[in-house]
Amino acid sequence: MDMTKLLSSIGGKLPKPVARTMEKGLRKLPGVGQILDKEYESLLAGLEEDLKPYKGKFPDFPSLPPDGLGDEEIFSLMRSIGKQEEERWKEGYASGAVYHGSDEHVKFINEVYALNSQSNPLHADLWPSTIKYEAEIVSMTANMLGAQEAKRLDPDAEVCGTVTSGGTESILMAMKTYRDWARAEKGITKPEVVLPVTAHPAFDKAVQYFGIKAVRTPVGDDFRADVDAMEKAITRNTIALVGSAPGYPHGIIDPIPAMAELAYKRGIGFHTDACLGGFVLPWAEKLGYPVPLFDFRLPGVSSMSVDTHKYGYAAKGTSVVLYRTPKLRRYQYFTATDWPGGLYASPSMAGSRPGGLIAVCWAVMVKMGEKGYLEATRLILETADEIKAGIREIPELRILGEPLWIIAFTSDALDIYRVLDAMNKRGWSLNGLQYPPAVHIALTLRHAQPGVAERFLEDLKASVQYVKEHPEESGGMAPVYGMAASVPFRGMVDDLLRRYLDLLYKV
Ligand SMILES: Cc1ncc(COP(=O)(O)O)c(C=O)c1O
Repeated sequence: MDMTKLLSSIGGKLPKPVARTMEKGLRKLPGVGQILDKEYESLLAGLEEDLKPYKGKFPDFPSLPPDGLGDEEIFSLMRSIGKQEEERWKEGYASGAVYHGSDEHVKFINEVYALNSQSNPLHADLWPSTIKYEAEIVSMTANMLGAQEAKRLDPDAEVCGTVTSGGTESILMAMKTYRDWARAEKGITKPEVVLPVTAHPAFDKAVQYFGIKAVRTPVGDDFRADVDAMEKAITRNTIALVGSAPGYPHGIIDPIPAMAELAYKRGIGFHTDACLGGFVLPWAEKLGYPVPLFDFRLPGVSSMSVDTHKYGYAAKGTSVVLYRTPKLRRYQYFTATDWPGGLYASPSMAGSRPGGLIAVCWAVMVKMGEKGYLEATRLILETADEIKAGIREIPELRILGEPLWIIAFTSDALDIYRVLDAMNKRGWSLNGLQYPPAVHIALTLRHAQPGVAERFLEDLKASVQYVKEHPEESGGMAPVYGMAASVPFRGMVDDLLRRYLDLLYKV
């Protein structure tokens, strides 16, 4: 029996705090460190080849080349590398990752970027164009998510926000804003945020960065947040509650109306993480799909994160964080008044920001228009209906909850991680989940292309059949996922992840 299996079998029976203490003790035993090192090495060994496929096949540059390369040489190198990668995302083999990706769309993005590549909103005097684009991105997003209704309900509500670099930065900014708001207006110095276990790890990042305590609460059998549990978790120090529309793992929308009402009654913030759903749900609702209220039409929703670089179809590197009032947004801003370099003010984490990406985001939004987003959503949701029906016909698989277009499934009969591996061998890049072990596919416009849903279902059936017929085969990522999902010693998993990140930087 290997070390991870052994630890998993001992620790699996222990309550979490006992496992944590035991892990600390085990690590101090002579020799355990070396054994664990070997375990990690073997778990990561297979991965290095996958992560570094160009090693020895394309020129490496661990240091600057003495003479710069010619433009044509660089283009040709990048074209041939790009060719190796393009098929999987273009032909719809990836979960999420590329959300539009048609040749025409990519060409449009590239041309808009070329027109704006030098701009930077930090220099508002030089590029007022970027300032216009950013303000309009925020306003278009706010109006899509109930800003008018919010104003009708309460004249003080004036939904506003900023553009950020992505969902994570939008979430970081919202959490920092609540921390500073609660300190200034309520005197809270030990802030806590209550959020379901399914909310994105960007919230863990935010609480780590900003000295907030996260209180994670369970979800029900339907994978929706347990509102009673959240209510019980609220203390004097709670600054905000969080819900997802939908959450990344199972694509399930939390009961936002009840959660936001709870926050409203308690006088604390409520953040809807609509990084995935912000540009889909308004249109899904218009198309008649069952979508609960999740945006500023609910009086309790005080902030939202909405990713333009996902289903907004902009290039990677933009998202929008929205607030119900400009007063709240002020807590996000950073200013420096006494610097010899002059007066300095910046709205979000970064100083200089890519005006080119902001311009691309604006251009994509005005090109898509309401009609474009409605049609894109219709295509994705129809593909999702076809895929869900197909998965339900595979007796070994079971869909988790009732998702719209991010579909998680597991198996009571097979190791689902081996099905994930088998799909991977057929070219698919799906996402492995844990607690419970499952796999998901986030459907995008890439999957709405003719034939992709059929190919996915055929490959899924064949993968299930393969795993059934080869029950004892090992290798692939299944043991890594299996170990990560079953080992109660989370420090080991943390180590493994840090080693994985190290591996990415190996040249
Ligand atoms: C629900 C949700 N929130 C936040 C994020 C973080 O977004 P990003 O990867 O753009 O930082 C994601 C990413 O998938 C997400 O699915």
